[in-house]
Amino acid sequence: MERPPLVLVDCDTGVDDALAILYLAADPQVEILAVGTVDGNVAAELGAENSLRALEVAGRPTVPVAIGARAPLLQESRHAEHFHGQDGLGDSHLPPPGGRPTDEGAVEQMLRLARSRPGEVSLLALGPLTNVALALGVEPRLPELLREVVIMGGAVACPGNQSPWAEFNIAHDPEAAEMVLRARWRRCTLVGLDVTGEAILEPAGHQRLGGSVAAEFASRILAQQMRTNHRFELCDPLAAAILVDRSLATFQRLPVSVDLDGRHTRGATVADRRTTLAPTEEEARPAVEIAMAVAADRFLAEFSRRLGSYG
Ligand code: BDR
Ligand code: CA
Repeated sequence: MERPPLVLVDCDTGVDDALAILYLAADPQVEILAVGTVDGNVAAELGAENSLRALEVAGRPTVPVAIGARAPLLQESRHAEHFHGQDGLGDSHLPPPGGRPTDEGAVEQMLRLARSRPGEVSLLALGPLTNVALALGVEPRLPELLREVVIMGGAVACPGNQSPWAEFNIAHDPEAAEMVLRARWRRCTLVGLDVTGEAILEPAGHQRLGGSVAAEFASRILAQQMRTNHRFELCDPLAAAILVDRSLATFQRLPVSVDLDGRHTRGATVADRRTTLAPTEEEARPAVEIAMAVAADRFLAEFSRRLGSYG
């Protein structure tokens, strides 16, 4: 039996990041050590505000929230307000949070936590990987210092959502993602569109959300998406769920590179599936565990149960 995780969440809170925080915080076994935010769905400052809102609704107002990278490493930022709303929470116009972000930066927070509890902290990366890449640049031992990293990102054997080949978190900062995927983590798990495409909340499931303050909050931030798209892909909550319970998914162990140069394929996650040809020295990199199938019904039932379980 694995020990319950101590989790550091790195995110760009958006609707599904907020739902992932609620999913995790409903688990009495999970200790959320801290949250760090990164430029992605929204600006890192707004992501921090939204993370504070979610933590307060979840009854965890003392979890520190730190602001991190305000832009990708090389390219210009393109937020996703068209999808997550101007406020990042489905234009739900919620009151501001009671708390405020810490004075420490998200990269410094990540380094401090990893160094102070070597081998114990699980990093759940739900946004672009800029903070993680910056932390790796400062501390090359980060992959040994963390217990594991679970990333929501990539589209290995399915279409992307930001471009035909690339998923949003990777496409937002491909250079950062490439640095992270070639590092030698103790364990690195990729939860990409290959499986999140199965984790769909339908209108009926949305209507059933209720019975707790957290479920009401979830229902409200999802309302715009339900009105316009009649469905919502629970990308970040699924990554959180797999961090807590790996039996929800099955994995393929393969090295993954991020395409940085393609005119049509920049940001694509390219898995090396060759079995007969050895990679060249330049191509050689550690295998990551790619979630390729998921017990979606079990996950969706657990999602509703957890949101309803708040007092
Ligand atoms: C990912 O991109 C963001 O819009 C979501 O929060 C999720 O992390 C899905 O591609
Ligand atoms: Ca996200």
